Formats: sequence, C-alpha cells, structure tokens
Amino acid sequence: MFRRTIRFVAKTVAVVTVASGAGVLLAKYVMDSMHHSVGIAKPTKKQLEEENQDNHALFRYLPELKRKIAWRQLGNYPTPIHRGTYNYISKDHGTARFYVKREDLSSPYYGGNKVRTLQHQLAVCEAKDATKKIYVTGTGGSNQIIATIVHGYHRLKLNVCPIWMQKDVPDLDNTLNMLSTLSFHSSEITSWADGFFMFQTMLSGILGSSSFFLPPGGNNPAGVLGQVGGLLELAEQIQKKEVPDPDGIFVAMGSSCTVSGLIIGVALCEHMNLNVFQSKEFKVHGVPIHDGIAGANRSMNFFKASWSQYIPLSIRHTIQSTCNELKKAGGPDLTAMALHVFETQVVIHDDEDVVGIYGGHSTISKNVAVQYDSIDDSIKDINGKSQKPLWLCGHFTAKAFTHMIEELKKDQTKDFIFWQTKSALQPLGPEDEWSKLKNLPDEIKVWANEGKSESIRRPGHVDTKHGNSMDYRHLMTKVDDALSIDNNNTQGFSKTSSRM
Ligand SMILES: Cc1ncc(COP(=O)(O)O)c(C=O)c1O
Repeated sequence: MFRRTIRFVAKTVAVVTVASGAGVLLAKYVMDSMHHSVGIAKPTKKQLEEENQDNHALFRYLPELKRKIAWRQLGNYPTPIHRGTYNYISKDHGTARFYVKREDLSSPYYGGNKVRTLQHQLAVCEAKDATKKIYVTGTGGSNQIIATIVHGYHRLKLNVCPIWMQKDVPDLDNTLNMLSTLSFHSSEITSWADGFFMFQTMLSGILGSSSFFLPPGGNNPAGVLGQVGGLLELAEQIQKKEVPDPDGIFVAMGSSCTVSGLIIGVALCEHMNLNVFQSKEFKVHGVPIHDGIAGANRSMNFFKASWSQYIPLSIRHTIQSTCNELKKAGGPDLTAMALHVFETQVVIHDDEDVVGIYGGHSTISKNVAVQYDSIDDSIKDINGKSQKPLWLCGHFTAKAFTHMIEELKKDQTKDFIFWQTKSALQPLGPEDEWSKLKNLPDEIKVWANEGKSESIRRPGHVDTKHGNSMDYRHLMTKVDDALSIDNNNTQGFSKTSSRM
C-alpha cells in the first residue's frame, strides 16, 4: 500500500513536472514568435520617395541604415525641450526644477512615446504586405492601441485590429483611450469580454502567417530602434545647448521598449564619441508601472538578473535582440556597450508604494499629480514662454514623475530630464464612438463607467446608462481640428502628414 502511494506520488510529480516544463517552453515559443512577428524589412521605393530620411535622427548618424530598415515619419520631430517647475509641500517646502523632453507633443493627431515606436514597425508591415491585418494588443486604457489606429489606419490606411486583452484599473483617462479608439474605423475589435475567442485570435495572430502582431508596448527590434532615434535627438539638443548634459533621465516603463531604446542610444553616443552624457552622475531612471513586474524585480532582481535575457519584454532580451538586428542591417555591434550601460548606468525604481496597481494612480502618485495640476504656468520654453502643462496620468507618467521629484528633493542641483510619454491630446476620429461603446458587452461598459476623473484639469465622466457624449467630448480634439493646427505648423513634417 505504502509503495503504491509512493509510486503514485512519484508519477504525479513527473507528469506535473513534464507538463509545466512543456508549458514554460510553449509560453516561451509564443512570446518569441510575438517578439519577431513584425521583424525588419527594407523600405519600399515609394517609402523612400515619400519620406525625408534625414528627419530621423538614427539615419542622420547611421546613414547606411536608410536603405536597410523601412521607416515612415509619423511625428513632428525633434520634440522640444521645455523647463518645468513643481512646488512640493512635504515637511520641507521647496521648488523642484527640471527639463522635459516633450514626447507628448510628437504629433498633432496623437502624440506620446508610441509614435516613435510605430515609425519603423508600421513601415515594415507596409513594406512586407500592406494588406495583412495588424493585430495590436494592450489593456482597456492602452495608449499603444489608439496610437496604432491613428497612425496605422487613419494615416497609412493599414488594417489595424485592436485586441484589448484585459481591463486595467478604472480611470477616466483609460476610458477615454477606449472611446478614442472606437472613434476610428477598425475592421475587427476583440476584447477580454470575448473570453476564449480572444485567446484564439491572439494565437492565430501571433502564429499565423496572414497577420502581423504588435506585442504589448511595441517591444520588438523595429519598435526599439524608433526610440533610439529619440535619444540621439536629445544628444543633438545637448550639443546645441538647448539643455545641459543631464545627470539623469526619468522614464515610465511598461514593456521596456522605450527605456531599452534610450539605453542603446546612450551606447551609440559613446560608440560615436559624441561627448554627451558625460556627467559622472548620469543615470537612466526607469520606473516600472506594473505592480507584478515591479514585484518580480523586488523579489528576483528581474531586470538585472542574467537569466532575464531569455525572456522577451525584459530589458536584457530587448537590448540583445535589437542590437542583433542593428548589426544585421549593417550598423555597429552595440551589444556589449549597451549591456554595460544597462548594468552601470540604469536605476530601476520599483517601490511598491509608488507603483500601486497597474493602470491607475497609487496614493503617492495621485498626490503628486494633484499638486502638479494645481500649479499654473508650470512649463516654459527656452524663451520663457508658457507652454502646455504635462498630463500626469495615473497609468504611466505620474509614477515616473513622482520618482524624479523625490530625487530632486534630495538634491536640487541635479539636471534631470523628464521623458514625457503621455500624449498631450486625446483624439476624436470621424466615427460615432458613443454608439459603439454602448453596443459593447456589459462588462466593458461597467469598466468604462467606473473610470472617474483624477484631475481637475480633465473634468468629465462616462455613463452609458444615463449620460451622453457631451459628458467627455470637451476633453477630445477632433482629428480635423488637429489637422488644421498641423497645417499651420508643418515644421519637420514629411509628405505623409498631409494624407489624412
Ligand atoms: C504614456 C506611456 N508612457 C510610458 C509607456 C511605457 O513605454 P514602454 O512600453 O516603451 O516601456 C507607455 C506604454 O504603453 C505609455 O503609453
């Protein structure tokens, strides 16, 4: 009897071990396939004719890549550098001064960091097969999904199909992103309310050959190379003395695409002896916004551990796969240098209290954002002219901003740059987003309705039972209106910008 029990336990353990091992291998295979779904392609003749390649900082420094990696200019670059102030009111009152790289102003259609992430990715999809579906994933309040619809469908006429994988913390900012997405045409929308069908769609999107699949945050080599351009642009701004050689850059981390691009960019500056980022103190400060990922970093040193190189969406894996593609395309091999920058010049701020829960504010980040929103005239350009204030969203930017302020409180002499990644405007497309939202399954509407406004600068609400679209539309900018703003300010824009 005892022996039989032992044999049964041993067999069960063996089956569970084999099954979980197979599960891990399968999960890795799916993640790797997702990471490589878009890949890299040469530009088409049409893309080369229509785009001014010199408007991309990466091509200015590595012109040999111009004919190797497809690219579409989707934004208005370089994004400006502004100066900001924040009056803090903890036990010791004071004013924190900082610089800000206005990635939020990267496009009058929809800005933020995702625009750079999409420039190579969408161009590669277009070059490989412009008729294929492009699945793009994110949570209910995803910025990447709305960015891909605006720039992929509305501007390049690609077939973009959103997949909202799961809800995030209710917040009006998140609901607005879903409404903005619904205001543009898409041939297919899938959401967490579709249950098993959503997984089926994702798997066929990742593993099938009839579509491209943009991973969460756009973290693949094409996406990351777009972000390298952002860092090189900053290097030029430092050389022109628009901003001092900084002691640090603060950036919110979701998929780690942006932070990895900044790290590779710093390595490229070093490789080219650009004489920037020379401050002994210089660090890239990455702030994870996902509680699970921040927790994994606290308990297992996730980001810096060497085993993370095998896990797509980790910084190590992203650096290695992107540097590999860069080398294959004829660029320099930056792997060792970029990993060295990562190991020695990157600080990950994973504090539980600031991260809170994925998708919305923590108590600390909310307090900082509320205090920031109460200050008028917080942002000025280099001539002292007032500029649009920052949108410190609970999902991403407020958490990174909180850490920068904490560091500035310790030492006010530091020259820090805040990488402002949340789009400054909320787009409204031509379709009736309100009716579309009301036709979605109840569980999506419940989530959308629960999202409350977290900022006095963005008052509004969504109530699909008793409200109407006037309750929130004042927070949105019609794409047609954005177009007329753009026509008056065409600086740095290529021919693609007139296509909408
Ligand atoms: C506003 C905003 N900030 C920061 C991030 C993080 O960027 P990444 O995914 O490149 O780490 C995202 C990603 O979705 C974002 O939407």
